[in-house]
Amino acid sequence: MIDPKELDGKVAIVTGAGQGMGRAVAERLSAAGARLALNDLDGKAAARTAQLIADKGGAVGIQPGDVTSATEVRGIVQGALNRFGGVHILVNNAGVLRPTPVIDIEEEEWDFVVNVNLKGTYLCSRAVLASMREAGWGRIVNFSSTAGKKYSTIGGAHYTAAKAGILGFTRHLAKEEAANGITVNSVCPGLIDTEMVRSTITPEQAASYGAGFPVPRLGRPDEVAELVAFLVSDRAAYITGAALDINGGDLMV
Ligand SMILES: NC(=O)c1ccc[n+]([C@@H]2O[C@H](COP(=O)([O-])OP(=O)(O)OC[C@H]3O[C@@H](n4cnc5c(N)ncnc54)[C@H](O)[C@@H]3O)[C@@H](O)[C@H]2O)c1
Repeated sequence: MIDPKELDGKVAIVTGAGQGMGRAVAERLSAAGARLALNDLDGKAAARTAQLIADKGGAVGIQPGDVTSATEVRGIVQGALNRFGGVHILVNNAGVLRPTPVIDIEEEEWDFVVNVNLKGTYLCSRAVLASMREAGWGRIVNFSSTAGKKYSTIGGAHYTAAKAGILGFTRHLAKEEAANGITVNSVCPGLIDTEMVRSTITPEQAASYGAGFPVPRLGRPDEVAELVAFLVSDRAAYITGAALDINGGDLMV
């Protein structure tokens, strides 16, 4: 029997929570009883997600900021600590994608894509570890992608490289922190119906990709949120260093 409030007493930071999967994850963790510190580069978007959660009676605060800045990340985590007294769950969801072929990727664009996806994951993880160690309990979920295991359907090589890097970072951190009660896992979504996809390909292209998957459609943010909710629960205490696919059967390895 699953306790519907199994995250009661837990504090979760979700990065990039202003829209898409980050918003769905934040809403799902709140429904399970967690108190939420919502980060996004776009403070207004984070505030809109916070309102959705507050309207349902959830405890929530916003910590706008850029996950690629060590200073801002320290501020995000300190803000959550000040408001809630601890951090038990971190969902490294913030990410950006560019579809550029390698021959045309400028150095600035490479750094931008790799930094938001990979450096942001490292900086946010580093910043929460002390609090998780103190609690003797922690959950970190990193957003990789099918791109991390194969190649990106709609993004460029910088995106694929960053998402593959997240898988390596996840395994290594999982090994380092396992004895401290902290699990670290990645999720690898396939093509999920969010703004990231809608702003990169046409509705016709999205429908065509969807029709080609074994489960013939795009995924939904709430389906990915369900997997994250499981990974951050006590039910997943023996899963660490894993990279869980959620892609309608697009990739089976
Ligand atoms: N949509 C997909 O098909 C898909 C598939 C696999 C993996 N992913 C990954 O899942 C995650 C969420 O994707 P999504 O589709 O919901 O994206 P999205 O573009 O809809 O939302 C991403 C959010 O991250 C925020 N963000 C961007 N840069 C940031 C920064 N530097 N600091 C803080 N916040 C920042 C944005 O403002 C936005 O609100 C990303 O890591 C993405 O790479 C997406």
